[in-house]
Amino acid sequence: TRIEKAGYKHFMAKEIAEQPVVIADALKHYVAGDGTLRLPEALDFKGVDRLTMVACGTASYATHVAKYWFEQIAGLPVEIDIASEFRYREPPLSPQQWALFVSQSGETADTLAALRYAKEHVGKVVSVVNVATSSIARESDLALPILAGVEVGVASTKAFTCQLTVLAILALKAALDRGRLDAAGLAGHLAALNALPGLMNHALGLSADISAVSKNLAEAQDILFLGRGPMFPLAMEGALKLKEISYIHAEGYASGELKHGPIALIDSHVPVIVLAPRDGLFDKTVSNMQEVMARHGKVVLISDAAGVAEAGAGCWKTITLPEVAAQFAPILYSVPAQLLAYHTAIAKGTDVDQPRNLAKSVTVE
Ligand code: G6P
Repeated sequence: TRIEKAGYKHFMAKEIAEQPVVIADALKHYVAGDGTLRLPEALDFKGVDRLTMVACGTASYATHVAKYWFEQIAGLPVEIDIASEFRYREPPLSPQQWALFVSQSGETADTLAALRYAKEHVGKVVSVVNVATSSIARESDLALPILAGVEVGVASTKAFTCQLTVLAILALKAALDRGRLDAAGLAGHLAALNALPGLMNHALGLSADISAVSKNLAEAQDILFLGRGPMFPLAMEGALKLKEISYIHAEGYASGELKHGPIALIDSHVPVIVLAPRDGLFDKTVSNMQEVMARHGKVVLISDAAGVAEAGAGCWKTITLPEVAAQFAPILYSVPAQLLAYHTAIAKGTDVDQPRNLAKSVTVE
């Protein structure tokens, strides 16, 4: 069947808008009505002492976020690498560990080569893929679909948030298997995940406000994205999205690392997007933000109402999202990050769905 834009101007806009539905689909697939997880029996993390996650591009940032979840919720040590480094580094691996590959297309050459290397050394090879019939899915011991549906826009959006959703479920499974989570704990995390489609709908409703911010961003030469904890990888993904489609140079940094280099870039021309849900590290992020403002950087604070009330004074712009469980905030905050990139690209007049020099799937080295 031919995939249409269904009234949207671009596939990217359609795919951003589809997220509440596809995430609800993924959750329905992996969580039974009685609140138990529905995963293959062979996916048992008991006895697994380490998880190595490998991917490229946006999928790689999904693994970076998931590292926080596997370590914090399941107490499972995680190593992450990009596939093009991993495959030639040929790191020592052991049968006690598993390797997990994340890929939208399931055909990325570097990721497939990394998988083939890992397969000879680790206990189990698991993949999280959108295309269930892909090479990566076929060559894995276990392939878990993300159920995002066909993604046409070169800049990945709904596949990223569906990857995160499935990885969150896997982290919960690991926590159960490792005795780190009881039924009540599981129910709490699942309630937080189940709230996401509704919260994302709310975030989608901010598109016009975000578009107004983007009109200003379109004039910038360089843009910084900051975040802490699981929002740090989202800062890198937000920067990637922006540079992919608007061609504006952007960097994602851990807020606490600002003082070790990027602060030298700050002047009155540099917008700094601060991804800061009011979590346990909020105050630290706010003090980093104030360092930016003291140097006349233009701060765009993305937070919830309490965060904006507490720290919004002096910001150039603020974007207010609904409250969300801190751990899963990267899934919700993906929406404004994607919309910022999208509207900035529109303001610049670039080709949103087919950015120059990029391919949807990179099947050659
Ligand atoms: C290309 C695409 C990116 C994607 C990356 C990994 O660079 O443009 O959007 O994140 O490949 O692709 P995969 O299909 O393995 O997720």
